[in-house]
Amino acid sequence: MPEIKEILQTMDYGPAPEDESHVRAWLKSHAAGFGHFIDGAFTAPGAMFEVRNPARDEVLAHVSQGAKVDINKAVAAARRAFPGWAATPGHQRARALYALARLIQKRERFLSVLESLDNGKPIRESRDIDIPLAARHFYHHAGWAELVAGEFPDHAPLGVCGQIIPWNFPLLILAWKIAPALAAGNTVVLKPAEFTPLTALAFAEICREAGLPNGVVNIVTGDGATGAALVRNEGVDKIAFTGSTEVGRAIREATAGSGKKLTLELGGKSPFIVFEDADLDGAVEGVVDAVWLNGGQVCCASSRLLVQASVADGFFAKLKRRMAALRVGDPLDKSIDMGAIVAPVQLQRIRDLVAKGLSEGASLHQSCAVPLGGCFYPPTLLTDVEPAATVAQVEIFGPVAVAMTFRTPDEAVALANNTRYGLAASIWTENIDLALDMAAKVRAGVVWVNATNLFDAGAGFGGFRESGFGREGGREGLVEYLKTPSTPRPAEATPRAPLSCAPAEAGVPGIDRTAKLYIGGKQARPDSGYSFAVHDSHGAPLGQAGLGNRKDIRNAVEAAAKATGWSGASAHNRAQVLYYVAENLAAREEEFVRRLGSLSAQKEVAASIARLFYYAAWADKYDGRVHATRTRHVTLAMYEPWGVMGIVCPDEAPLLALVSLLAPALATGNRVILVPSAVNPLAATDFYQVLDTSDVPAAVVNIVTGEPDTLAKTLAEHHEVAALWYVGSAAGGAAVEKASASNLKATWIGGDRDWLSLEGHGPEYLRRATQVKTIWVPYGE
Ligand code: NAI
Repeated sequence: MPEIKEILQTMDYGPAPEDESHVRAWLKSHAAGFGHFIDGAFTAPGAMFEVRNPARDEVLAHVSQGAKVDINKAVAAARRAFPGWAATPGHQRARALYALARLIQKRERFLSVLESLDNGKPIRESRDIDIPLAARHFYHHAGWAELVAGEFPDHAPLGVCGQIIPWNFPLLILAWKIAPALAAGNTVVLKPAEFTPLTALAFAEICREAGLPNGVVNIVTGDGATGAALVRNEGVDKIAFTGSTEVGRAIREATAGSGKKLTLELGGKSPFIVFEDADLDGAVEGVVDAVWLNGGQVCCASSRLLVQASVADGFFAKLKRRMAALRVGDPLDKSIDMGAIVAPVQLQRIRDLVAKGLSEGASLHQSCAVPLGGCFYPPTLLTDVEPAATVAQVEIFGPVAVAMTFRTPDEAVALANNTRYGLAASIWTENIDLALDMAAKVRAGVVWVNATNLFDAGAGFGGFRESGFGREGGREGLVEYLKTPSTPRPAEATPRAPLSCAPAEAGVPGIDRTAKLYIGGKQARPDSGYSFAVHDSHGAPLGQAGLGNRKDIRNAVEAAAKATGWSGASAHNRAQVLYYVAENLAAREEEFVRRLGSLSAQKEVAASIARLFYYAAWADKYDGRVHATRTRHVTLAMYEPWGVMGIVCPDEAPLLALVSLLAPALATGNRVILVPSAVNPLAATDFYQVLDTSDVPAAVVNIVTGEPDTLAKTLAEHHEVAALWYVGSAAGGAAVEKASASNLKATWIGGDRDWLSLEGHGPEYLRRATQVKTIWVPYGE
């Protein structure tokens, strides 16, 4: 025991270990191993694997490796439980969620210790962040269970939700997944990560204690193969996944064409941007939180430090001083800053990536001792990093900050967005104009101003680009667990004869009726040099339309990408343009009725005009929210357009479907590449004449006629197209989803619908045309 005099000299902390006896007793009581939690009971343990404590390299428990048959049983139990749970009045569901929240709260210390033993994170974090936030999620969603019927009229739960979670925030991400699913009336099969299944199993016991009906929550442990079996199970209606981008991609491919709803919360390489006028000491503390929370094993870790060159030397000197004071040690010691890395494989991955960084020219700074034995890695700073270096591009998922400098705000934006990800960003400046300007320009789902790693059940969380799609938390997270009135029916297989590119047939009027493509505000000949024949409903030739190909799509995307002015235009301005389109369509109503030539043509044109009015009305009213999260913060949910969208229209209702899909995309500020019906593309090519006369800026709408499924695939593969709506055949929809896995773009797939009814319009279309950016701004005392 050191003497007080010695302690005062070194100012060293003594150990402050948390009591682990209750958790040890619980583990001992399960020494025979854990089974799965299915239909309200634990199964007998089957083939098992070890769960280890990464800090002490000891075996904590044995859990069962879930096989396909276990997944089948769990999904069957969830299916049986679904009708009863969905029909349970919201108030009763609220009581159940409230009971779960209360029980988590009562067990806060137990669950914190268990989490820290299993994952290696400091007890300070599990006690002050993970477990309280998990309880908060259940409280918040107890509220949603009560309110969902009134706040989301005509919505319904989806059914059985398959949920797969990672090891970095095991109980917290479980709560993020299970709480909204149950609140909305769904049942659940959850697979925890193989490294960290223990708090999920403790939660299963809590479900039993709370009296949750059997089968509402099922937990099957196992590795990636168990997860893959859940993804492929046909009884599952939705997959919600958090984890690596690689597995997210595999899940996107595996679910393509299945009709399963999908949300993906994936990796990131988030920027931490420090301007010269920032409170540098505050920013240094921000880095500690951004990079070293949970040993940097955080999907939204702002681990790319971008520091304005004028203050970089001073900032890095301060940061290095702070790093020297960080303490790495036993996770159960209350006075340490960083615990263990989750597993040897992850430790090796971090070591390899840092070695790669050094081989690519980075300079290394580490100034903190780590305990011998166990999976520990010191807080690390890499400077002299080139923006294209591996460590600047690849998610390290460890306590490693990579630093770069910039000179101007524009350069900061360019560097910040120089990534395939888009999960989060942290912006440090005392200049509110600059902070909010940056917040608008960084492509990230969550932006923190003068803060980092703030989370709340009431605010949406999720990424742009390859960080995934869908949100968790708040209203925007809840809707991901609901079927909306305009949820498209599954696409049906509707084979259509291939397009005929034979020379124009006899009977086509003498003058050239070959409609061209419409790209960049101009009519354009198709690159292929071919056109295809268009017939009326009786088979009589009507004319020809250009046969667009990959090159035409590329040209259209290039043009749309440049037309950024539309996304920046005021909502009033966009509304006016949509009204003007409606007015000009009305002026040519008779002509369009003749062009459509169908029995319902009159109705279709009238409905198209009405639809333009409807979305013009919404343009300045679909305006985001302010979420009630923490004190001293205003949390904005900004509805941002995707940017460049692809829209592939069905054959039916060629004008009304086109307008119903195009107008919400335009109202919310997107630029669009539109592939019209192949059966009646001439309504679309006539429509661009309306656009031309209605002040729609060039390249905001681009129309490429041709074989929709071929063009859809090209759109799906194009990295610049951020979202793609496809209405068509089952095979075409599946191909779009599969092709979109390469860049994880958001897709909305469906079969034909009744375009005149609620299926054909509504706020869901606006929601699908936007993504939520959550911005946390300091506010008030
Ligand atoms: P992972 O993505 O492989 O694992 C996440 C979850 O998915 C686990 O429950 C796992 O069993 C399951 N899984 C694995 N393969 C699957 C498949 N084919 N189908 C369905 N489920 C499957 O992440 P892992 O291997 O644990 O970590 C590897 C890297 O991923 C990390 O170094 C880190 O960069 C990143 N990562 C990112 C996370 C995030 O929150 N963004 C979380 C965990 C890891």
